[in-house]
Amino acid sequence: MSTAHPYLPDASSSVGPPLWLLLELTYRCPLQCVFCYNPVDFASVENELTTQEWLRVLQESRALGSVQLGLSGGEPLVRDDVEEITAEAHRLGYYTNLITSGVGLSRERLTELKRAGLDHIQLSFQDSTREMNDFLSHTRTFELKRRCAEWIKSSGYQMVLNCVIHRLNIDHLETIIDMAARMGADYLELANTQYYSWAHLNREHLLPSRAQLERAEQTMRQWRERLKGKMRIFFVVPDYYEQRPKRCANGWGTTLMTVAPDGTALPCHTAKMLPGLSFPNVREHGMRDIWFDSEGFNRFRGQGWMKEPCASCEERDKDLGGCRCQAYLLAHDAGATDPVCAKSPHHHVVLAAVERAQQPRAPEAPLVFRRKESSRALAQRP
Ligand code: SF4
Ligand code: FES
Repeated sequence: MSTAHPYLPDASSSVGPPLWLLLELTYRCPLQCVFCYNPVDFASVENELTTQEWLRVLQESRALGSVQLGLSGGEPLVRDDVEEITAEAHRLGYYTNLITSGVGLSRERLTELKRAGLDHIQLSFQDSTREMNDFLSHTRTFELKRRCAEWIKSSGYQMVLNCVIHRLNIDHLETIIDMAARMGADYLELANTQYYSWAHLNREHLLPSRAQLERAEQTMRQWRERLKGKMRIFFVVPDYYEQRPKRCANGWGTTLMTVAPDGTALPCHTAKMLPGLSFPNVREHGMRDIWFDSEGFNRFRGQGWMKEPCASCEERDKDLGGCRCQAYLLAHDAGATDPVCAKSPHHHVVLAAVERAQQPRAPEAPLVFRRKESSRALAQRP
């Protein structure tokens, strides 16, 4: 008789389990951030999964070997079943992480989430002042976020603050770090904008200059020293300023499975935009078939798909050719070398964007906020 734990993955498979499961419970969100990573056509996604469907996803993924769960969106708390989903995830043995703007949180809800077994909360800010926070999110949310931070701290959670960094707020790094320290944050993630989706659309406004980045790194180093032992600060340079790409999502189909609000299963947040690829829906397929056997998850697994210069590059095991979505956005070919790589024949596209970012002039195109109307208009573009 087999004594295997029911949640251990199938040992006969050479592909490991989707250790990290990210449920994008909804694309609905009261905020309208200019760097949002949700698809630009999010407004056309309807028909969110029901609570029962999400619970089935959790159960099947856990049976496959998933251990880490992210609940995100949009704003996940616009759904009233986050507590129920969290409770089931906790019962199944996931480590649960809620990624929220704070809108929709209350003291009572936090108590309920804690009772349901929520392990971790990540609260986002857009900047350190009410004016900039509210401008960048196009909503009056700064005061609410401050209250949320207090509730999170007083309910005994480690406080993890996240602030997406870009050209419009990078010069405020000092006050952002100071704000986080005053709030008693244990961790501060200064996440440099990744140029996909809405951030790609607004890239001319958001890509910092080299001088801004250098000042920011210096500020960050000073504060790291000053806050040693009290608050940890994470800061990653935007990859446009690197010579080599990142190993995106730890490698396509190796670790991460994202499920979009309508049930589309994806190897990363933005893969759905890649042309010529079909991704399965959890309403029609079991998680095991999706992970191991679907075309979408297998297309860029391993290295067999690589072209030159990646195919014969000695660094290919390290970065797996970089990000497929970035390759599509910048080189119009999801199978190309990520143009961030200095060896890519398309690297000049990145250099040109970096060059433009050194100029002080304001971009001609207006900043586009993540609004339903803009999303519908963008979806109709040829
Ligand atoms: Fe990585 Fe490809 Fe660049 Fe080599 S050529 S460093 S594998 S992205
Ligand atoms: Fe899609 Fe990198 S974001 S592969």
